Amino acid sequence: MASPGAVALIPHPAGTIRQKTDGYAPNVARMHNYLLDGKDHFAADRSAVEELLQHAPELYTLVRAERLFLMRGVHWLAGKMNIDQFIDLGCGLPIGRPLHERAAGAGARPRVVHVDNDPVVVAHGRALVDDGRNAVTVAGDVRDPEDLLREVCLTGLIDLGRPVAVLCSALLHHLHDGEGPWEIVEALRGAMAPGSALLVSHLCGDHAAPRVVDVLEQVYTGASAPLTLRSRDQITRLFDGFALAPPGVLDVAHWPGARPPSRRGAIVAYGGIAHLPAA
Ligand SMILES: C[S@@+](CC[C@H](N)C(=O)[O-])C[C@H]1O[C@@H](n2cnc3c(N)ncnc32)[C@H](O)[C@@H]1O
Repeated sequence: MASPGAVALIPHPAGTIRQKTDGYAPNVARMHNYLLDGKDHFAADRSAVEELLQHAPELYTLVRAERLFLMRGVHWLAGKMNIDQFIDLGCGLPIGRPLHERAAGAGARPRVVHVDNDPVVVAHGRALVDDGRNAVTVAGDVRDPEDLLREVCLTGLIDLGRPVAVLCSALLHHLHDGEGPWEIVEALRGAMAPGSALLVSHLCGDHAAPRVVDVLEQVYTGASAPLTLRSRDQITRLFDGFALAPPGVLDVAHWPGARPPSRRGAIVAYGGIAHLPAA
């Protein structure tokens, strides 16, 4: 058996994920699945997550808060904003109740296109979530938004001429600054009809010790995608050009409540929901 440390990372241009050549690298989708007590993970994923938890035990509750924010957000978008089309970017391995069922619970007849750049995630989605009518999973890389939206539209489930909700839950912190998360959101915004919405959740290191931030980012340098913790201001800038719904960008554990005091010494997931006003 090859030792995990003995293999090299292969390059990861948009459209691919970084993989070690022997398949033993931690994978961000499987790491997330392990954190959520799922069943789809390997030893490399588990040991990377255990290292993360040693330095930031709050991650265990934090990923659940992000997931709950996503579920509540979709329900709110369907029920209060009457949105019936969703593009779930960086959808991750299926776990829990599918999003289209969650939105349907709000009275909508939703269609959801799930997108991920990890072929294993796409295969799991197709096998476990897709029904061909309300939910379809496609391969796409958010670093190439034009190509991604082309794939989404080819499903026939999403009409970009009508309001759509773009979901970026726990995704954009897996991009380096140089990969342009703000520009990517801007490009997506340019393709969205008035009345469309954006949901983002994103890890923030503002309140954590710099040493912890360094360790966390370091653990991900060997994984299938990096981790970039951003400040609350940087996360808020992702919503430029959108109108943020009250209470704005906040610790997702508290959404949709009032803004809580910042938590000292911990990693926080900030997030918000915004809409695109009529031109
Ligand atoms: C932490 S998981 C989040 C899963 C899900 N959105 C959630 O909130 O539960 C991040 C997902 O983003 C995917 N991902 C990472 N970089 C991506 C990229 N450049 N384009 C598309 N998906 C990406 C990973 O494969 C992984 O499935």
